[in-house]
Amino acid sequence: MNKKFNRTLVTCALPYANGPVHIGHLAGVYVPADIYVRYLRMRGEDVLYVCGSDEHGVPITIKAQKEGCTPQDIVDRYHRIIKDSFTGLGINFDIYSRTSSKTHHKNAADYFRKLYDEGKFIEKVSEQYYDEETKTFLADRYITGTCPKCGAEGAYGDQCEKCGATLSPDELINPKSALSGGELVKKETKHWYLPLDQYEKWLSEWILDGHKEWRSNVYGQCKSWIDGGLQPRAVSRDLNWGVPVPVEGSDGKVLYVWFDAPIGYISNTQELLPVSWEKWWKSEDTKLVHFIGKDNIVFHCIVFPSMLKADGSYILPDNVPANEFLNLEGDKISTSRGWAVWLHEYLEQFPGQEDVLRYVLTANAPETKDNDFSWKDFQARNNSELVAILGNFVNRAVVLTHKYFEGKVPADLKPEAIDAETMAQIQPLREAMEKYLEGYKFREALKEAMNIARLGNKYLTDTEPWKVAKTDMDRTASILNVSLQICASLAIAFEPFLPFSSEKLRGILNVGIAAGNDHRAGEEGATSENIYTAGEGAALHTGVSYDGITLSWEDLGKAVLLPAGHQLNQATLLFGKIEDEVVDAQIARLEAIRAEREAAAKAAEAAVVTPQKEECTFDDFGKMDIRTATVLEAERVPKTDKLLKLTIDTGIDKRVIVSGIAEQYSPEEMVGKQICILANLAPRKIRGIESKGMILMARQNDGKMRFITPQETLCNGAEIG
Ligand code: MF3
Ligand code: ZN
Repeated sequence: MNKKFNRTLVTCALPYANGPVHIGHLAGVYVPADIYVRYLRMRGEDVLYVCGSDEHGVPITIKAQKEGCTPQDIVDRYHRIIKDSFTGLGINFDIYSRTSSKTHHKNAADYFRKLYDEGKFIEKVSEQYYDEETKTFLADRYITGTCPKCGAEGAYGDQCEKCGATLSPDELINPKSALSGGELVKKETKHWYLPLDQYEKWLSEWILDGHKEWRSNVYGQCKSWIDGGLQPRAVSRDLNWGVPVPVEGSDGKVLYVWFDAPIGYISNTQELLPVSWEKWWKSEDTKLVHFIGKDNIVFHCIVFPSMLKADGSYILPDNVPANEFLNLEGDKISTSRGWAVWLHEYLEQFPGQEDVLRYVLTANAPETKDNDFSWKDFQARNNSELVAILGNFVNRAVVLTHKYFEGKVPADLKPEAIDAETMAQIQPLREAMEKYLEGYKFREALKEAMNIARLGNKYLTDTEPWKVAKTDMDRTASILNVSLQICASLAIAFEPFLPFSSEKLRGILNVGIAAGNDHRAGEEGATSENIYTAGEGAALHTGVSYDGITLSWEDLGKAVLLPAGHQLNQATLLFGKIEDEVVDAQIARLEAIRAEREAAAKAAEAAVVTPQKEECTFDDFGKMDIRTATVLEAERVPKTDKLLKLTIDTGIDKRVIVSGIAEQYSPEEMVGKQICILANLAPRKIRGIESKGMILMARQNDGKMRFITPQETLCNGAEIG
């Protein structure tokens, strides 16, 4: 395994504490990290698993402002929700702290101050947009105006959501404050910059030459950043929420959230392990791995490493296995639009089915490209994989053992060649799993684990113990012995992926597992507020032994894990079928959101009006003879969808007008209606019918049309003007 390393420090991107965690976060970061950590621990590796809430940044202040509360209220609320929901899914960090903690504020400030004192920053004064009304400098996101590319109103200073263009506030037409709606002025302000350009050569050597093994999506993004040339990056902001810049005369300035947040990994380690934290961060034999989503690549591969390098005393990440994005039912997940499946809601709605979500998100993980989560796929993977393959195999083996052997592992009395052949196939699957898990290919690893269950099913189908039992109990004993040994291997193989089910299976098999040690207890001086206490899932990682049997990873695939005579517990189902109603209800919820969104988009489109035409004179207008008239007869013009032939009474005469309103009105609807017409339009032949005049219609931008009718019925031929 990790020859170069004696311990592994695994970090997961710190979630912003301004909304709950959803399946996109889980698939991208937390589930793969958890699999990795559980696996390493089973192999006896010393692993520290660190996460926490990212509680600074502009969006949190805006959310607070909108809700009329303080930013602290917002982060307190979501910190709890997020922390509890991770625990609910079996994701047991050693510490889940927060960047508003005292330790972190001090730590981040000290980090900045050291680099500042060593002259590692550039100081620059620049002009920034300032809102006189709220007396604040505005982040790009909080400046709105007209998009210079597509003309849409309400484009942001960093992006137009209508056409997707990347913008800078200076490009906006008529920029305004999104906070107050007021005018903006430009004002000078001083900030500190990390001169990334000075780290370019070093980054190129370290990543482009030294880490060719990184995932191609990660390596590719790094390459394009470095090839494009790096610029100094501001590490401070004008804002009153965050870690104050620890330099005299910098009132109203805080560290940029992307400067302080990654230092949070270090702070959280310190909170938990105030005595020994340095060995995790400063010792070359520690392997540091950052699990993140693809939108975080530049910060974890370019910016944070440059910060670590600038300090000089820290190790650098050995790998940054970033995932792509997970979509939901074909659309991008969006917190603000409610287009998401929230973890805390899932846990409430699917109690006891934590592993189903873990399974689906891993089987479908966006490791190499964006992927889609759909409820139908969720149901199918549960019913035809977890239930039909894994659950079914285990259940058959255990139920038959109870039926024929009183639930005791039968002795291998009459082995046949197929037994050894089957068992021999597990070892290569295990080796493949190890290779994939150590190479961050969790989807592939899960497939191999599932192949062990497939192997078991095939074995039962080939050997048919329920038939053999009628004639040959010795052979039946052997078949079930082999089947139960495979079950024991499955309990090991699935522990990293499906910890709840693996635990359930171990309960049935009456065995324990060596799942390694965690660091949740912390050490002397640990900040108690964020230390996990018993009952918060801590037990999952401890090695428990039942009846003297403790399985370990190295046992996976061995021929004898359960000795003959070992007593099993009653079979309980590992997985339950998920019915159509359950997923249909989820789909209906999402469809309602989609329908609402489409209606809103349509209304917005309809509201766009065409620009005013060029000026005309009173005389121009006077030339038009506009009058009231009544429809006497109406019929469709044959072989057309749009045209109606209308016979109308104009007060002057009875005449025919052909009008393109058949998609909006049926002939029956038109008869008897009083309308307005342009009477003196030169006659035209339309589809062979002479049309004299035109019906006046109001046309909305989305294509909806309505004819114009007087407020009350008038005589026909009344002039309009
Ligand atoms: N809060 C960020 C996000 O959700 C991730 C921060 S990771 C850290 O995108 F390294 F900065 F902590
Ligand atoms: Zn635009």
